[in-house]
Amino acid sequence: MMTKSNPGLSRRDVIAVAGLAPASALAAPKPAAPKPAAPEAAGQTKPAAQAKANGGQGGFLWGVATAGHQVEGGNLNSDMWLLEHLAHSPFSEKSGDALDHYHRYAEDIALAAKLGFNTYRFSIEWSRVEPEPGEFSAAEIDHYRRMCAACREHGLIPALTYNHFSAPRWFAAQGGWENPEAPALFARYCEKVTARLGEFAGLASTLNEPNMGLLLQWILPAPVLQQMRAAMVDAAKAAASDRFSAIMFGRQELMLPNLLAAHRQGYAAIKAGPGDFPVGVSLSLIDDQPLGPNSRVADKRRQCYEPWLAAAAADGDFIGVQTYGRARIDDKGQVEPPPGAELTQMGEEFYPQALERTIRYAYAATHKPVYVTENGIATEDDDRRIAYINEALKGVGACLADGLPVRGYIHWSLMDNFEWVFGYRPKFGLVAVDRATQKRTPKPSARLLGEIAKSGRAPS
Ligand code: BGC
Repeated sequence: MMTKSNPGLSRRDVIAVAGLAPASALAAPKPAAPKPAAPEAAGQTKPAAQAKANGGQGGFLWGVATAGHQVEGGNLNSDMWLLEHLAHSPFSEKSGDALDHYHRYAEDIALAAKLGFNTYRFSIEWSRVEPEPGEFSAAEIDHYRRMCAACREHGLIPALTYNHFSAPRWFAAQGGWENPEAPALFARYCEKVTARLGEFAGLASTLNEPNMGLLLQWILPAPVLQQMRAAMVDAAKAAASDRFSAIMFGRQELMLPNLLAAHRQGYAAIKAGPGDFPVGVSLSLIDDQPLGPNSRVADKRRQCYEPWLAAAAADGDFIGVQTYGRARIDDKGQVEPPPGAELTQMGEEFYPQALERTIRYAYAATHKPVYVTENGIATEDDDRRIAYINEALKGVGACLADGLPVRGYIHWSLMDNFEWVFGYRPKFGLVAVDRATQKRTPKPSARLLGEIAKSGRAPS
């Protein structure tokens, strides 16, 4: 149950916290100055060089995030769509038209800019771009190119996610990330996308939370994990394949080496250009805290984070930190939140202090600049979102004050959206969406964080 026990900081306090950062700490690597584009074919976008400079001055990134499948709608060719439509689907509802962001991206990008942000993180839907193996759609790549151009025109830095969980059906039918060919397939897709989008990009994550499937082994009870496996069997039948596998649902031990190689090869493909912008991997980092004697925290870290933190350190210009809360780990595993704890709509403890701790953990493990590429809370109570943001930013401020190279804070999410198997019930958005009319209504938290974004930019 939500309580009002945590009053949060005032808006002025938060701006002061954001202002803790010395200008040197706030200075991010200058995002790629977009080169003039090649002469444009009819219907294509204008060169990004004409963009306004709002977000392009090399300051701290204040952003909002979405992911294709969660907002676009009609993502028919993806493995997630297929899973949603199984007779015994693990999804509580279907994504359907989602927020129709595929068609309404221009107004959504304009809204993010108007609210005061300088960065928009969004993902490219691989299944649109490569609907059949090796068959790339120039028109769909240009859709994302237009999104990038719209960001630049509104002074927003496009922060691209090349894969945010969903993948083409054909890819899943070939074994998904369990398939040893997956890294090469992913790298080829990265190369094709970067060829058209690289000149616009300001930041990129290869993979979004590739460690999530590993974490679920710690979070979910065994029967739920079994149901997820069972869904793979049904999906294989539906896809006329005997090895269908989707991220999070498949066999993690087989996926891990391929996902690590996919990050490495994807990183190289994106860095080959065009463009010159930081590329890294965004990890789900829970603030794991030991409880009692013989806590298994070290086991969890070894399984879920360490391989990925090593990959980020070896092949990456930054570490993307994505944190929502904490987990307490005893000698058996993860335990329930403390009795009486305030819970979010995801059933997790309200614990915004987690972010400071995971930033410190990620930096200590990688010595790479940190971008918070996701942080947020599922709640119907926007006052609690405000309290959460205030507290989380206090942690970012403390890290900056200690000289840690935190380069940006990107909130999840711009809008209430499709929360995977949980459907549309959890509300992570700064902006409410009436899905009957697709009307967007900014919540007070959107105004608050937008104001912080405006005021919190590093002095030039
Ligand atoms: C994912 C998002 C998701 C969010 C909230 C992250 O794990 O990247 O896709 O919506 O958390 O659960």
